[in-house]
Amino acid sequence: MIATESALTSWLAERAQHIEQVLERLLPPTNQVPERLHQAMRYAVLGGGKRVRAALVYAAGNACMRPNTATSAMNEALDRAAAAVELVHAYSLVHDDLPCMDDDMLRRGRPTLHVHYDEATALLAGDALQPLAFDVLAQMPLAPEAVVNATRTLAQAAGSLGMAGGQAIDLVSVGKTLSQQELQQMHLLKTGALLAAGVKLGGLVAGAHALQQRCLDEYASAIGLAFQVVDDVLDVTTDTAVLGKTAGKDAAANKPTYVTLMGLEGAQSLATSLHRTAREALSPLGDAASLLGGLADFIVLRDH
Ligand code: IPE
Ligand code: IPE
Ligand code: MG
Ligand code: MG
Ligand code: MG
Repeated sequence: MIATESALTSWLAERAQHIEQVLERLLPPTNQVPERLHQAMRYAVLGGGKRVRAALVYAAGNACMRPNTATSAMNEALDRAAAAVELVHAYSLVHDDLPCMDDDMLRRGRPTLHVHYDEATALLAGDALQPLAFDVLAQMPLAPEAVVNATRTLAQAAGSLGMAGGQAIDLVSVGKTLSQQELQQMHLLKTGALLAAGVKLGGLVAGAHALQQRCLDEYASAIGLAFQVVDDVLDVTTDTAVLGKTAGKDAAANKPTYVTLMGLEGAQSLATSLHRTAREALSPLGDAASLLGGLADFIVLRDH
């Protein structure tokens, strides 16, 4: 199947709607004690977001599955993997927006969680979303060894050698000039790691063989970095209304970004070259990888 731009757009919209329903089911109901915490968790996760990480899980699964071998257990495992990655991502955004981090008021077009509720609730909602993600993953209907592999994949991507580590580097880098190598490491960790985990989990559920895994890994590191390079670009090129988060925050907070390092055009051409690398990495997978290819296009061409 070749994913044209409009086919990809409708597939992405359908997957976004689907993962919303899966997450809705997996999150505790708002009438369960402690109600306010459960309301806050649902506020953080539901009703917004591009759902790129979930889409990567499904697209990688699709690329590696042998034709007509999808079982209902495999589909449930993909749903659980996609939900787990979105739960960790939502928690990372809640904490990223706190006053002690980026101090942001707007997220996905709405007040940030600590503004809408309060800081302690935002801290706790993040604290609760992360273990929920692992509980969701632990119930994947797969062989125990695959469940352990999936759990370790997400744990490593979220931890001090992944997202949390990248966030720590981000905070100590305020006001500093980083080398391209240092900036790349920060971006690969804070953002690339979780996107790459989504790709890896999709492959794992589909039983990807060694060559497929190598292609997925190469693709994932290119789009993972590209995603944050484009986020840096959008922060200076796009309005708050379109972004759904406050534009111009990086410069205001004195953050080193690809735009400060290499200028707007330099950052845009790096994104284009990472896009090419990602697409080339997929070529051994043939047409089966058309959704992953379409997602690479989406990641560099997106407007928010
Ligand atoms: C925002 O991620 C945070 C970054 C890692 C740049 P997204 O741009 O995927 O945010 P949502 O999920 O679509 O809101
Ligand atoms: C966020 O990077 C990375 C994580 C949330 C882990 P940013 O701080 O640039 O993300 P936005 O721009 O606030 O979405
Ligand atoms: Mg940040
Ligand atoms: Mg931020
Ligand atoms: Mg940003």
